[in-house]
Amino acid sequence: MRILVLGSGAREHAIVLALRSEEAGHELLAAPGNAGIARDAALVEVDMLDPSAVAAFAIDHAVDLVVVGPEAPLIAGVADELRERGIPVFGPGRAAAQMEGSKAFAKRIMAAAGVPTGRATHARTVDEVAAALDEFGAPYVVKADGLAAGKGVIVTEDRAAAIEHAETYLPGGPVLIEEFLSGPEVSLFFLSDGDTVRALSPAQDFKRALDGDAGPNTGGMGAYSPLPWLAERFGGEAEFVAHVTETVALPVIRRLDEEGTPFIGLLYAGLILTDAGVRVIEFNARFGDPETQVVLPRLVTPLSRLLLAAATGTLEDEPQPVFSDDVAVTVVLASEGYPEKPVTGRPLTGLDEAEAVDGVHIAHAATAEADGGLVATGGRVLNVVATAPDFRTARERAYEALSHIGLEGGHHRTDIAARVAE
Ligand code: AMP
Ligand code: GLY
Repeated sequence: MRILVLGSGAREHAIVLALRSEEAGHELLAAPGNAGIARDAALVEVDMLDPSAVAAFAIDHAVDLVVVGPEAPLIAGVADELRERGIPVFGPGRAAAQMEGSKAFAKRIMAAAGVPTGRATHARTVDEVAAALDEFGAPYVVKADGLAAGKGVIVTEDRAAAIEHAETYLPGGPVLIEEFLSGPEVSLFFLSDGDTVRALSPAQDFKRALDGDAGPNTGGMGAYSPLPWLAERFGGEAEFVAHVTETVALPVIRRLDEEGTPFIGLLYAGLILTDAGVRVIEFNARFGDPETQVVLPRLVTPLSRLLLAAATGTLEDEPQPVFSDDVAVTVVLASEGYPEKPVTGRPLTGLDEAEAVDGVHIAHAATAEADGGLVATGGRVLNVVATAPDFRTARERAYEALSHIGLEGGHHRTDIAARVAE
């Protein structure tokens, strides 16, 4: 197949690597890509945010499948245009992508579908914010309504900080004040063809910038998969996945279909396992980053098959995806100053040595070639990904690989998957 992958992060590199590893002779194209993706796919010039440009490119180059990585092209209507022109595309249209683009939309769909989530109120003024904070009590949860790359949320005991966060986003529209939910978090991905869903293996993401879940929220600093501790509460991964499929994914997919906005693509359920049961904290309309970097290396079923089946409405014919028993751990290397103000343009060294470590590969996020070497071009620079039969080994491999990589001012968490490895 000729497959065009849109996006430029480590998630898109992970998708490209998974497609390449099928050894099916796919012709892989990517836009805009990065220096790592360029080694595994041909980079092409097309503006991924321009629906007609992407459609024209796909038609001119007889692309068999377009895979949309990030949310921005979805919100821009790229998938709508491709679908109208008859090109198979993995990614929802603009309307269904509101599951991620608008927290208010997602809350409405959840309410209509009877999906369990935290209680929340919309506040339009500082007075309304203060009243809602006092109603729910501490810890306080304040969320911006639109896309904010994982940075629009604050969870804090500090009432003044909660109000200050709300004030930053209020000029752009109402903010959401939410009930605090306590428990472990799970990211669970569902492939959907608008009607049928197939779940991938669960992962856990580390959202805070610093060790011990301190510091600000980020796009994600590391992840691991699978989650062996799910067995204690649910009996096993399969039971957990079946439960979330029935109580969360299918009701949402059915509701979106009934509203005439079918969800074709990846429904990302961000969950908190509270004592009272599973609660949705957010949906995304695309693969998670960095969770994808640990989920896809464990996928045994050919990814292209699943994505094409979702894009063409034939997921019902596909068996449940199969995953390897190996575990995967990924650690993100970030630039100095990330997430507030990343310093970019610095040289990056030692990647070959890192990838020489057994079971390790690198998913590039913000890298570019310069003067015969690599430079970091953004906040999250790359992901070291390690697979192994057990978490202790996977962690050791990931951190050994990281020790070979040089980036002035670069930082990473040292406690990714530490607890599960114990
Ligand atoms: P979100 O962008 O909605 O996924 O929120 C980012 C992170 O903030 C989540 O992964 C949680 O760690 C935390 N968070 C969001 N909502 C809540 C909540 N209601 N209770 C506790 N933590 C939350
Ligand atoms: N890792 C969180 C996200 O992709 O939104």
